[in-house]
Amino acid sequence: MIRNTRLERPERFAKPHVIPREKLLAAAKAACDKLKARVERDGADFPSTCSTQYKYTVGPGVPGLGPNRNWESGMYTGCFWLAYELTGDEFFKKVALDMHLPTYVERFENMRGLDDHDVGFVYVPGCVSTYKLTGNELAKETALKVFDYYYNKSYSKEGKFIIRSHKSWRKGQIYGYRTMMDSLMNAPFLFWASEVTGNEEYKRSALDHVKTTADYLIRCDGSSYHHYQFDPVTSEPLHGVTLQGKSDESCWSRGHSWGVYGFPIAYSYSQEPFIKEVHRHVVNFMLNHLPDDNIPYWDFDYVSGDQPRDSSVACICACGLHEMCKYLSDDEPEKAIYECAGAKMLEAVIDNCTGDIGTRYDGLICHVTHAKPQGQGVDECAVYGDYFYLEALLRYLKPDWKKYW
Ligand code: GLY
Repeated sequence: MIRNTRLERPERFAKPHVIPREKLLAAAKAACDKLKARVERDGADFPSTCSTQYKYTVGPGVPGLGPNRNWESGMYTGCFWLAYELTGDEFFKKVALDMHLPTYVERFENMRGLDDHDVGFVYVPGCVSTYKLTGNELAKETALKVFDYYYNKSYSKEGKFIIRSHKSWRKGQIYGYRTMMDSLMNAPFLFWASEVTGNEEYKRSALDHVKTTADYLIRCDGSSYHHYQFDPVTSEPLHGVTLQGKSDESCWSRGHSWGVYGFPIAYSYSQEPFIKEVHRHVVNFMLNHLPDDNIPYWDFDYVSGDQPRDSSVACICACGLHEMCKYLSDDEPEKAIYECAGAKMLEAVIDNCTGDIGTRYDGLICHVTHAKPQGQGVDECAVYGDYFYLEALLRYLKPDWKKYW
């Protein structure tokens, strides 16, 4: 596919933009204090995906909530590891290691929520992180057992992609034989498993998945479909779908942000030139559709007006731009632009999405939109928003931070 994009207003990101260190430290302290206070108040059970009127629902006695069960669970545990790395406070480590690790073992034993494309989202920041930070063998073994199940069920060797929610797909049935932007963040599970087991097939499959995403989900103008449908019998590509966006042909902001971050992660494991190239188009599209105040709307069709924002997108993009800068040399013009844009996006979240942080919002950031067409979590808080806010703060405070992904 020929892609032809260019950054429309390069002058907007031309001057270096540095977030003062004191501001980053204050933001990190406020967020970690809030996380700790919430656990002291509500316990460390896994909260609902997103808030309702800014309040997370937590705790035993709430049907379907409490246990480690959905795709955001991994990001909730990840918040504690990030907070531990930001503060050194053993409180956060105890939550992640003593309280949460057993829930990843139990989730596997009970096969809860594992028939899903997003299992990488769960086990990478929630369990692989535990292994990477502490060397805990139970975390490693559990993650590998889950990986084995996930890879065999969710990776299509014929299609060369991670299948969207394999539970919803049966051979011969069309619905569900799709892949999606989100799974760029599940591919790190395959890269990690390849590294620790030495099995090269997992890495090849991860790269095939990334290539399939680049070939079919990224359009000529650098925008993205949320999903792409394939023929379940022949694996022929059929058409794009944008489930959580404004329309099939629009570009759902959070889906696109998984490309802004997922492609650099894949590049970190492979150094494949095509990844850098497609990423440049994905970023050009994102920056060309970034509102002047640097907080994306929930769909990139909107660049001004009063539609809801998705501040999680700003945090995810800040992480992705920061990651890609590691692989760009000083004489590549993108590097200075990405450094500036990432810092502006993170600072905009600090300035505009953390007001009343100690009282009004349960989340660490507000103005997250989970799924607008489905009416879920519009202009609310969400656990993944909290996670990527903390990760972005940690990246900007400790540029040599080793990623969990
Ligand atoms: N499954 C990831 C997302 O909803 O963004």
